[in-house]
Amino acid sequence: MNSSPLRIGIAGAGFAGKFHHKNLRGLPAVTAGVTSSRKESREAFAREFETAAYESVEEMLPHIDVLDICTPPSSHAAYIRSAAKAGKHIIVEKPFHGFFGSPEQYSKEEMLASVTEELRGIRQTVDEAGVILGYAENYIYAPSIQREREIIETTKAQILRMTAEESHSGSHSPVYGIWSEQGGGSLIGKGCHPLGGVLYLKRKEGIARRGSPIRPVAVSCRTHAITKRPDFEDRGYLRTTYKDTEDYAFLHVIFDDGMIADVMTSELVLGGVYDFVEVYANNHRTRCHIQPVKVVDLYSPSRKEFEGMDLMEKISSNEGWIPAYPEFGWSNGQMYEMHDFVRCMREGKHPECDLELAIDITLAIYAGYVSADRKGAEVEVPRI
Ligand SMILES: NC(=O)c1ccc[n+]([C@@H]2O[C@H](COP(=O)([O-])OP(=O)(O)OC[C@H]3O[C@@H](n4cnc5c(N)ncnc54)[C@H](O)[C@@H]3O)[C@@H](O)[C@H]2O)c1
Repeated sequence: MNSSPLRIGIAGAGFAGKFHHKNLRGLPAVTAGVTSSRKESREAFAREFETAAYESVEEMLPHIDVLDICTPPSSHAAYIRSAAKAGKHIIVEKPFHGFFGSPEQYSKEEMLASVTEELRGIRQTVDEAGVILGYAENYIYAPSIQREREIIETTKAQILRMTAEESHSGSHSPVYGIWSEQGGGSLIGKGCHPLGGVLYLKRKEGIARRGSPIRPVAVSCRTHAITKRPDFEDRGYLRTTYKDTEDYAFLHVIFDDGMIADVMTSELVLGGVYDFVEVYANNHRTRCHIQPVKVVDLYSPSRKEFEGMDLMEKISSNEGWIPAYPEFGWSNGQMYEMHDFVRCMREGKHPECDLELAIDITLAIYAGYVSADRKGAEVEVPRI
């Protein structure tokens, strides 16, 4: 193993780029450069974190070992290809990939077919390059999910059903809610997280019990645009400005062993981020809390005491009892994903959250969109 630190080049100098950089702390890796489409943001990032700013990914690639893609989803596929062709390892933020055309112009079947073909191409490019790809689905690295993995592997438990959710009161990004920017709405933007968690656990169960991953074979899905309903009474607490995407989705997943999972996701939930995976197995039941977690209960007598302080994601008021984060990115796994990626890339191994899982998650989502268009009819998840 090479003893020099892994040189990570971060594409995207926003929220995700910053937490990826911070989570390299203590690891045998350094942020060797940053790029973003805006000169001011990449230069500010480079100044703050003492690294080099590059004008483009192409310009940064010769100076790094790993391209860490923290840009909006529509740019992920092109950057994966560029990095693989340059022989660099790859880290990609969620959602892995999508279809970025208008739903007025393209049918959901066309979207699924296009995404399937693109993923096939991405896999071939990555395989041929012989590089390692880590998909940054943080749920997989959440301490509660890793505890459940250990229970499943140790007791050879059979998972019969799961329920899982990621919801809150609405993303603040101005381009969220625009299909051509995000590849869909809540189902891809938020639902990818709990879906990742349930697909990962079934994968691990399969390997433990039968020697091969249990994979999703079919889905049924409903999506709704609740805040667009004429009867929705807006009290001002939920975001409502979604252009052409859903703000609620329910995805029923059927696995190749006949067992099931139900994934819920929405922009309709007050009270902070609501993220969990619940496992109903033949020998145990586990509630994996992702956020909030009961570690720190903070009482704030007045909102001005903690004005501007990030105590818990998406709470509207820093007042009263607050289930505050113990440390940002701990319970939701963001702190641990970089550990796995850095270790695996240094040792030439595949990480817990790899390209195969990213492909299954993406195809289940777009099969879900086809199903939602058919008002919940069962749709096969393509295999590539
Ligand atoms: N895992 C998580 O919990 C989590 C949280 C937030 C964001 N994300 C994901 O991270 C990615 C980035 O989101 P964000 O919140 O950091 O966004 P952001 O808007 O805060 O930052 C995006 C950055 O990318 C740059 N950029 C935009 N298009 C680019 C392009 N084509 N090439 C190079 N740079 C470009 C912007 O200038 C900006 O610096 C998204 O895929 C998002 O879904 C994941």
